[in-house]
Amino acid sequence: MQRLRQSLQRWYCQQGRDLPWRRTRDPYAIWVAEVMLQQTQVATVIPYFQRWMEALPGIPALAAAPQQQVLKLWEGLGYYRRALNLHKAAQILVRERNGEFPRDLEQVLALPGIGRTTAGGILSAAFDQPLPILDSNVKRVLARLVALQQPPSQCLSLLWQLSQQLLDPVQPRAFNQALMDLGATVCRPKKPHCGRCPWQADCSAYNRGQHQQLPMSAPRASRPHKQIAVAIVLRGKEILIDRRLESSMLSGLWEFPGGKIEPGETAAECVVREVKEEIGIDIEVVAPLATVEHAYTHFTVTLIAFICRYLGGEAQALQCSEVRWVSPAELSEFPFPGANQKLFPHLHAWLAEHGNTFEHT
Ligand code: ADE
Repeated sequence: MQRLRQSLQRWYCQQGRDLPWRRTRDPYAIWVAEVMLQQTQVATVIPYFQRWMEALPGIPALAAAPQQQVLKLWEGLGYYRRALNLHKAAQILVRERNGEFPRDLEQVLALPGIGRTTAGGILSAAFDQPLPILDSNVKRVLARLVALQQPPSQCLSLLWQLSQQLLDPVQPRAFNQALMDLGATVCRPKKPHCGRCPWQADCSAYNRGQHQQLPMSAPRASRPHKQIAVAIVLRGKEILIDRRLESSMLSGLWEFPGGKIEPGETAAECVVREVKEEIGIDIEVVAPLATVEHAYTHFTVTLIAFICRYLGGEAQALQCSEVRWVSPAELSEFPFPGANQKLFPHLHAWLAEHGNTFEHT
């Protein structure tokens, strides 16, 4: 164990990455970074992290921010629940702990959006607490180290134990950061750089020639596919958008209204029905705009979008939390989910071609 710790720390001193959240011990900044890094690559996270910290530099600022600002700062990172949970947790901390981030593991784990590896990542980095981590990079490093002959997801308690046993109790902060860097830069999923690895001599996968085959992958669950029809409803120079219900997936984000195409219904019939149900107005379909595909984690969608004309009725939030009529230029001020964003270039091209307006008669 001692040899592994020392060789890793030596390697980290020379090869470790200089990342913005490693230049601070502020638990809030580290928390924000760890949550962004839960499902997003380091290179993508860096500019988001910097913008977030400038806009919301501390827990009180986050707690007081409007939800719309929080979602806008997150736009493009995906998995928006992470942003909503950060916001909610900051409000809890202001209410219950004077805006201080807790140092106690159980209290950290009680906050929304923080699991065991995020808690270990934050508390080890901010306060040098000897708590292990087990993110996907670390799972791969450890699975190769011991030549695990099962998918890591089926051996989590063993991998947690290993991460705890290896952890350097004297320098847990540096050790955990080093382990993540080893996974990200050397012990990569494909074509690992075993020649540069400080653990090469001790790596069971390498010694058995299994470093390309391990870790074993778990059988992939097939992702369901949804066909959604959406309406881009124009009224003069304005476009109708609605905000998704809190209880729904992608909650709090804005979208073009629409929904799942029912059996026996065309996509065009679907948008007319959905807009009536969700918003209470009458529309008619004018032209197909675009069909786009988007993959979320647990399902994929095809969005079939139509340009529609407003016919009558008052727009109300019947099955959404808010409705607005906005100008094309204002659209970018609202946080939209990834699939809806793919429609923007098509919409702007259509509007440019049709003189940016659409007078209803
Ligand atoms: N992934 C999760 N946490 C990380 C960190 N602190 N540095 C780099 N990548 C990470």
